[in-house]
Amino acid sequence: MADLRSNFVGIKSPNPFWLASAPPTDKEVNVRRAFQAGWGGVVWKTLGSEGPPVVNVNGPRYGVVYGADRRVLGINNIELITDRPLEVNLREIKSVKRDYPDRALIISLMVPCDEESWKAILKQIEDTGADGVELNFGCPHGMAERGMGSAVGQVPEYIEMVTRWVKQYSRMPCIVKLTPNITDVRKPAEAAKRGGADAVSLINTVNSITSVDLDLFAPQPTIDGKGSHGGYCGPAVKPIALNMVAEIARNSATAGLPISGIGGVTTWRDAAEFMALGAGNVQVCTAAMTYGFKVVQEMISGLREFLDEKQISMSDLIGRATPNVTDWQYLNLNYTTKAQIDQDLCIKCGRCYAACEDTSHQAIAMGPGRVFEVKDDECVACNLCVDVCPVENCITMRELAVGEMDARTGRPVQPYANWTTHPNNPMSRAAE
Ligand SMILES: Cc1cc2nc3c(=O)[nH]c(=O)nc-3n(C[C@H](O)[C@H](O)[C@H](O)COP(=O)(O)O)c2cc1C
Repeated sequence: MADLRSNFVGIKSPNPFWLASAPPTDKEVNVRRAFQAGWGGVVWKTLGSEGPPVVNVNGPRYGVVYGADRRVLGINNIELITDRPLEVNLREIKSVKRDYPDRALIISLMVPCDEESWKAILKQIEDTGADGVELNFGCPHGMAERGMGSAVGQVPEYIEMVTRWVKQYSRMPCIVKLTPNITDVRKPAEAAKRGGADAVSLINTVNSITSVDLDLFAPQPTIDGKGSHGGYCGPAVKPIALNMVAEIARNSATAGLPISGIGGVTTWRDAAEFMALGAGNVQVCTAAMTYGFKVVQEMISGLREFLDEKQISMSDLIGRATPNVTDWQYLNLNYTTKAQIDQDLCIKCGRCYAACEDTSHQAIAMGPGRVFEVKDDECVACNLCVDVCPVENCITMRELAVGEMDARTGRPVQPYANWTTHPNNPMSRAAE
């Protein structure tokens, strides 16, 4: 059976599944129950230093986007960092770590951007016996307005400076948590590396307004008639997170910098995808908030079975897809596919026809008896018919072999060519 033991920047855990810093890791009782359920590690809900008190709203903190079956697709929150006293958190961390020495216990931190504040809190964290710190440069609401969280994460120079202080005043591994609310995520990751970070973790939540109450004319969640933007997370943000993880993994300036993947991980498959793109482990919040701590059991057994089936180890999986992420101009423009419809599976709904006829390439014909057929001479292989078809595997894409006639172009499929060398690229002709 595949070995799921993980060693992330020297922090050992029995599996690569950690709970992300958030309500599930807010206090001792939660974290103990999480460990009993099988989580390999937790990142404790972000601690701040003494200072202006952290006061949360007393109205709803969350806005939700549902799928058609009321499944939670995304959660938007306006919660702040922990509002529990620092000394209580520190005492609880110490007690949990003592009883669970084999689990990873990382402490998320957000303190004002001055050297003394960081120096002071790091000493207190070290005394708890925790395994490492995660710097919260990501939360987009509430604390950012006080010059912390994403206000730091959006300025690479600040990231580098604070990371340097953390490495100077502590021996603990330091993970820098990045905000997605930035144009090019490679810049803050590079800054973290320059500052001496042991790893980066991403993503924190995405700036968002999930919906507007059309009676109150105010964003939801609504607090006494007003709303503010919040941070979006859950399955809906996974595509954004995967791309950002891949961007960092394949950037030569951050090559080898370990990545903890976060954002919408709900199943073992999500975790495997993050790992294949270069994440050394994953962190989870929304899935635990939606389904409870035991979701980790499915993640553990699913990942183990997957690795066994593929006959690869976890380290073989990590980064295995990274070399296959490339820039558009390197895609093979001679690779040719055509849609094909399985008439036995077709339920004659006509969605493929409507989508293709109205918005794509008029490449599906509707014959007598609502028989739908692909017109190979019009099909550009955009995949929209596959995407809108309600029956899985009813419409699939068939790859044409090199040399096979493409009815659309009237020419046989040619061997590999990318845009850089493609005859239609004026730059490549100029280079000839
Ligand atoms: C209610 C709530 C509170 C959160 N609080 C924190 C926090 O204190 N510190 C932090 O770094 N991230 C915080 N996060 C962000 C999560 O750690 C995580 O980065 C994000 O939710 C994406 O993961 P997910 O899609 O699995 O939820 C919070 C998320 C939620 C939903």
